Amino acid sequence: MAERVYIFDTTLRDGEQAPGYSMNLEEKIRMAKQLEALGVDIIEAGFAISSPGDFESVEAIASAVERPVVASLARALKKDIDAAWNAVKKAKHPRIHVFLATSDLHLEYKLKISREEAIKRIKESVSYAKSLCDDIEFSCEDASRTELAFLAEAVECAIDSGATTVNLPDTVGYATPEEIGSMIRYVKEHVKNIDKAIISMHNHNDLGLAVANTLAGIEAGARQVECTLCGIGERAGNAALEEIVMALKTRGDKFGFYTNIVTEEIARSARLLSSTTGVKINPSKAIVGDNAFAHESGIHQHGMMANSLTYEIMTPESVGVVKTNLVLGKHSGQHAFSKKMQELGYALSKDREDALFLEFKKTCDRKKNITDKDLIALVEAQENPETQTWSLDSFVVNSGNRMTSTACISLKKSNEKIYQDVASGTGPVYASLRCVEKIIKHPFSLEEYNLTAVTEDRDALGEVFVKISDQSGVYRGRGVSTDVIEASILACLNAINKMLDENSKAIGQSQSAAKMSFENDMLIGHTDKKEQE
Ligand code: KIV
Ligand code: ZN
Repeated sequence: MAERVYIFDTTLRDGEQAPGYSMNLEEKIRMAKQLEALGVDIIEAGFAISSPGDFESVEAIASAVERPVVASLARALKKDIDAAWNAVKKAKHPRIHVFLATSDLHLEYKLKISREEAIKRIKESVSYAKSLCDDIEFSCEDASRTELAFLAEAVECAIDSGATTVNLPDTVGYATPEEIGSMIRYVKEHVKNIDKAIISMHNHNDLGLAVANTLAGIEAGARQVECTLCGIGERAGNAALEEIVMALKTRGDKFGFYTNIVTEEIARSARLLSSTTGVKINPSKAIVGDNAFAHESGIHQHGMMANSLTYEIMTPESVGVVKTNLVLGKHSGQHAFSKKMQELGYALSKDREDALFLEFKKTCDRKKNITDKDLIALVEAQENPETQTWSLDSFVVNSGNRMTSTACISLKKSNEKIYQDVASGTGPVYASLRCVEKIIKHPFSLEEYNLTAVTEDRDALGEVFVKISDQSGVYRGRGVSTDVIEASILACLNAINKMLDENSKAIGQSQSAAKMSFENDMLIGHTDKKEQE
């Protein structure tokens, strides 16, 4: 009978550590909920000790999801373990994930401790974590470059101290599949208590072998695999969740394992990651790239028409790439629109659907055929109306090759009042952003600007992604329109609203801290007075 492999997703920890992939609290919660819908078994929500923001997001995710185990990473230190436990303890299924490097290279140069000291630290830290939480994972960082006899000793000690999962990472992506297989077999043969724990794999992709190594690990006896959506992560990334899962599913005949992943949620999960972070998915990316199911050449198309098995080893539908026949346009009513949204897998609230339908109708006036990609772009660019301080009322932009560009923009503030201003710049986008900045009276810097066409046609929607920053942080925004200047202004406003929201929360927090300290002063004064009486 097929055996189960547990999927440990570390998109929000190892993945989020990678440059360009950082997410704010709201985005991490949304991502965690999607990971739950995807069916992952364990969500590594962050590294609680690393920053107050990380602590807050691990804690929030612990309360936001129900079914998956929620883990926080911790070094083999009491203060890390305390922070991890405090962040995950409200989860329905909490886990503390303790790690310590075990290779001589790391022990000597990074930790500057002996092997004996390392064993002592494993024993102390895992036992301490176990006194707080039942579910403990221990990772031997750089396991693949650790001398096998010492690796076995470290694993045995971790299990004796209470670890129920032991992870053997290829931290620097150095090992080959054959070496990973030998490492796991060695641990299974030489660790006396190995039957009391699940062996886990965690492979980095520096040589492009992360998925192959993970599959080799499973074949040798690993039953938990650590991975990220689209393989994001430190340096060249981690093993890609979707590739491992679809390899096990598509080649069930060879591997004989199953996972509880709802594979139809894969495309949506990858899309959410991309739309949240603004990092595009490589078109050739296995499983989730735009070209993964495209058949351009005549020979392939002919074969596909005769029998899709000729060139298709899995169906696009099985990973949630829906190809529907229902084409929407100007004359489509809300019923057809709603049906289409369901087909695309969106469960929208009534209010959200109404707002999107309005947006859709406006787009129909400018664009004849609305494709699935257009609809997806519209849905994913739409933001929570409650946090929209500024919205676009109207704009006029003049631009040409022998003139300075000028922008005249009217913005509506949440109080319904309209504000208008003009600005000039060396290009239409520059002039527009300057004008917006003048109206909102809050300076910001543009860190990144990206414009892409959603589809190939001439009347395609333009999708603009921006990153702006002020002293409080970096904010992402997205805007979609047939007019690229409008898309630019919308993207900018989207980021500005997040920035202002964050700024007002920070002001609120400092005001309530000041109020509390004032009240405390009053209380102390009152007590002092009483004592004097
Ligand atoms: O790559 C690695 O070794 C890790 C561990 C902390 C699990 O991310
Ligand atoms: Zn890692």
